Amino acid sequence: MASFRFFPLFLIYISPFLTLSYAGDPFVYYDWKVSYITAAPLGVNQQVIAINGKFPGPVVNVTTNNNVVVNVLNRLDEDLLYTWDGIQHRRNSWQDGVLGTTCPIPKDYNWTYQFQVKDQIGSFFYFPSLNFQRAAGGYGGIIVNNRAVVPTPFATPYGDIIILIGDWYNRNHTDLRKTLDAGKSLGMPDGVLINGKGPYRYNTTLVPAGIEYETIDVQPGKTYRLRVHHVGISTSLNFRIQSHNLLLAESEGSYTTQQNYTSLDIHVGQSYSFLVTMDQNASTDYYIVASARFVNASLWQRVTGVGILHYTNSKGTARGPLPDSPDDFYDKTFSMNQARSIRWNVSASGARPNPQGSFRYGSINVTDVYVLENRPPVMINGKHRAILSGISYINPATPIRLADDYHLKGIYKLDFPKRPLTGQSQMKTSVINGTYKGFMEVILQNNDTTVQSYHMDGYAFFVVGMDYGEWTENSRGTYNKWDGIARSTIQVFPGAWTAILVSLDNVGVWNLRTENLDSWYLGQETYIRIVNPEANNKTELPKPDNAFYCGQLSYLMTAKPNKSFALSIAGERSKLLFMLQMFVLFAIFAFR
Ligand SMILES: *[C@@H]1O[C@H](CO)[C@@H](O)[C@H](O)[C@H]1NC(C)=O
Ligand SMILES: *[C@@H]1O[C@H](CO)[C@@H](O)[C@H](O)[C@H]1NC(C)=O
Ligand SMILES: *[C@@H]1O[C@H](CO)[C@@H](O)[C@H](O)[C@H]1NC(C)=O
Ligand SMILES: *[C@@H]1O[C@H](CO)[C@@H](O)[C@H](O)[C@H]1NC(C)=O
Ligand SMILES: *[C@@H]1O[C@H](CO)[C@@H](O)[C@H](O)[C@H]1NC(C)=O
Ligand SMILES: *[C@@H]1O[C@H](CO)[C@@H](O)[C@H](O)[C@H]1NC(C)=O
Ligand SMILES: *[C@@H]1O[C@H](CO)[C@@H](O)[C@H](O)[C@H]1NC(C)=O
Ligand SMILES: *[C@@H]1O[C@H](CO)[C@@H](O)[C@H](O)[C@H]1NC(C)=O
Ligand SMILES: *[C@@H]1O[C@H](CO)[C@@H](O)[C@H](O)[C@H]1NC(C)=O
Ligand SMILES: *[C@@H]1O[C@H](CO)[C@@H](O)[C@H](O)[C@H]1NC(C)=O
Ligand SMILES: *[C@@H]1O[C@H](CO)[C@@H](O)[C@H](O)[C@H]1NC(C)=O
Ligand SMILES: *[C@@H]1O[C@H](CO)[C@@H](O)[C@H](O)[C@H]1NC(C)=O
Repeated sequence: MASFRFFPLFLIYISPFLTLSYAGDPFVYYDWKVSYITAAPLGVNQQVIAINGKFPGPVVNVTTNNNVVVNVLNRLDEDLLYTWDGIQHRRNSWQDGVLGTTCPIPKDYNWTYQFQVKDQIGSFFYFPSLNFQRAAGGYGGIIVNNRAVVPTPFATPYGDIIILIGDWYNRNHTDLRKTLDAGKSLGMPDGVLINGKGPYRYNTTLVPAGIEYETIDVQPGKTYRLRVHHVGISTSLNFRIQSHNLLLAESEGSYTTQQNYTSLDIHVGQSYSFLVTMDQNASTDYYIVASARFVNASLWQRVTGVGILHYTNSKGTARGPLPDSPDDFYDKTFSMNQARSIRWNVSASGARPNPQGSFRYGSINVTDVYVLENRPPVMINGKHRAILSGISYINPATPIRLADDYHLKGIYKLDFPKRPLTGQSQMKTSVINGTYKGFMEVILQNNDTTVQSYHMDGYAFFVVGMDYGEWTENSRGTYNKWDGIARSTIQVFPGAWTAILVSLDNVGVWNLRTENLDSWYLGQETYIRIVNPEANNKTELPKPDNAFYCGQLSYLMTAKPNKSFALSIAGERSKLLFMLQMFVLFAIFAFR
C-alpha cells in the first residue's frame, strides 16, 4: 500500500496521530420524535411515519468530518432503527442502525446515534431499517457539504434542492408485510411520491382532484443542485424534467464526469446530484417526472410521480403530455449503456484536497472473490423466502457485532459461500468472512426477472462492469480498470451481472443487502465481518456507552422507557394528569 501516497475519501487513513476522540471537529445535534401521522399522499388516508410531525423527515445537513448526534425517540408501536445509507461510519459499525450491529430501539425508548462523517462528501439519505417501515416513510435526505478548503468540480450552485422519489402503496407497511408473509407479491404500486406528495393533476382522468403535489420554485437563469434519492420500495424509476437537461455531477459521494442526460434511470436506494440550469423561457411551468421503468407503460400509467418546476417569472401552468420516458420495454440495452456511461471524475477532489485518481484501483490484486446470486423467491420450510446464493438470511436475536464483543458463540457462522450453493436453499445466519485490508471482488448475478439494487454499508465500492448473461472469468476482460464510479448502491439488471471491487479497510460488521424492500424483508442480505487480527484499539471504536442490549444479552439492559418526552409533547394537561398518577402511586407505596 506504500505506493498510494494520496488517500481518497473511501480509503481509511489510519494515522498514528488519530486517537479515539473526535479530535475537535464540530458537533451537529438533532432531536427526533418518530411517530405515525395520518396523511393521504395519493388521496387515501393512511398512517405514515413522520419525524417531529413531518413527512418526509428533516434534512441532515452537515460538513465533512462533522460529528452528528441524533437522538431518536421511538413513538411507533414497534421496534425502530435508523440507518444512514452511504455514510461510512469509519471504524464504527456500532452506529450503522441495522440488526447485525445494533439492538433495536423498543417502542417508547430513545437512543442517541453519534457518528462522524469522516472524509466524506455528497448526497445520501436515512431511513428506518426494520420491518418494512420505509414503505411508510420516515426517510429524509443527508447532505455532506465539502469543507471550504476543498473545491468542488463545478461552480457553487445557486440553490440546493432535495428530491425524494419512490413507489408507494395506499396499504400501510404492516399490511404490505402481511402480503409478503402470505407468500404473495406486492403487486403494482398505487403511485410514485415526490417529496412525500402525490402527482400534479396533469391528466384529469388519471389523477383525482385534491391531491397535494410538490412545487419547486426557481429563479430564471440560475443553476441548482438537485439531489435525487430513490427512497421507494421496489420499482425502478426514470427521472426527468420537461425541457431541461440534467447535468450529472455526483453519485453517492463521488464526483462523476459531468454529462447531460434528458432522463436517468434511478433504482431503489440510489442517489444522484444533477446540476440543472433554469435556461427555459418560462412560457409555462415544467413537469418533474419519476415514472416506473421496464413495465408496460399503458398498464402502469398511475405509477408516475409528477411535480412542478416553477420559475418565479412563469407565465402559466404546466400543460400537455408528460415528457417521454425511454421506450424500451423489450430492449434493455439503453439502460445498461446509460449505467455504464456514469464515470468517476478521477481528477476531481473529494473530501480531501488530493486528486482521487491517484488511487489506481485497477492495479490492486484481488484477494477474495464472491459470486452472489439472486434467484426468484422460493419456499423453505413452508415459508416464502428470498435468497442470495442459496441462503435466506435470518437475523439473530443478538446482533453479530455485540455478540462478538461478549465472545458469545454460535450466534452466526462465517461460512457464506464464495459461489452460489446448489441444491436445497437454506435459512440461516451465514456471514462473509472478510479479510482485513483485503481487496474483494464481488459479482452480483441476477437470475430473477426484475432489477435488484445492492447496497454495502460502511463502504463505497468501485463499479467495474455489468453485462447480460452469466458472469465468467473471461468477463474480467471487459472491466473498467480506470474510472469506474465509487458508490454504495448499484443495480443488477435481470438476467445480468454487475461486478464491484472493494477495499476492506473499515473494521466492523457491515450489511450487504438488496435495497428492494420486498426481497430484503424476505431475507436477501448478509453481512461482511472484518476484524483487524492485530487488536490495537485504533482500527475500531469501542461499543458506545449508551448501547442497548437484546437477545442473549437482554439481562444487561438498564435503559428505561422515555416518559419525559411524552410529557413535553403531550402538553400541560397530561402532565398534570401524569403527576397526579405519580402522586397516587407514591401514596399507595408510602402508606402500605
Ligand atoms: C395498517 O392498516 C390496517 C388496516 O388495513 C390497520 O388495522 C393497522 O392498524 C394499520 N397499521 C398501522 C401501523 O397504521
Ligand atoms: C445546508 O447548510 C448550508 C450551510 O451550511 C446552507 O447553505 C444550505 O442552504 C443548507 N442546505 C439545505 C438543503 O438545507
Ligand atoms: C435519551 O434522551 C435523553 C435526553 O432526552 C438523553 O439524555 C439520553 O442519553 C437518551 N438515551 C439514550 C440511550 O441515548
Ligand atoms: C473533473 O474535475 C475537474 C477538477 O475539478 C474539473 O476541472 C473537470 O471539469 C471535471 N471533468 C468533468 C468531465 O466533469
Ligand atoms: C388522460 O389519460 C387517459 C388515459 O390514459 C387518456 O386516454 C387521455 O387521452 C389523457 N388525457 C389527456 C388530456 O392527455
Ligand atoms: C449541458 O446542457 C446545457 C444546456 O442545458 C449546456 O449549457 C451545457 O453546455 C451542457 N453540458 C455538457 C457537459 O454537455
Ligand atoms: C418558449 O419556448 C417554447 C418552447 O420552446 C416556445 O414554444 C415558445 O414560443 C417560447 N415562448 C416565448 C415567449 O419565447
Ligand atoms: C400492455 O398492456 C396493454 C393492455 O393490457 C396490452 O394491450 C399491450 O399489448 C401491452 N403491451 C406490451 C408491450 O406488452
Ligand atoms: C499482483 O500479483 C502479481 C503476481 O500475481 C505480482 O507480480 C504483483 O506485484 C502484485 N501486485 C501488487 C500491487 O501487489
Ligand atoms: C476468516 O478469515 C481469516 C483470514 O482472513 C482466517 O484466518 C480465519 O480462519 C477465517 N475464519 C473462518 C471461521 O473461516
Ligand atoms: C437463470 O439461470 C438458469 C440456469 O440456472 C438459466 O437457464 C436462466 O436463463 C437464468 N435466467 C435469468 C433471467 O438469468
Ligand atoms: C484496548 O482497550 C481496552 C479497554 O480500554 C484495554 O483493556 C486493552 O488493553 C486495550 N488493548 C490494546 C491492545 O491496547
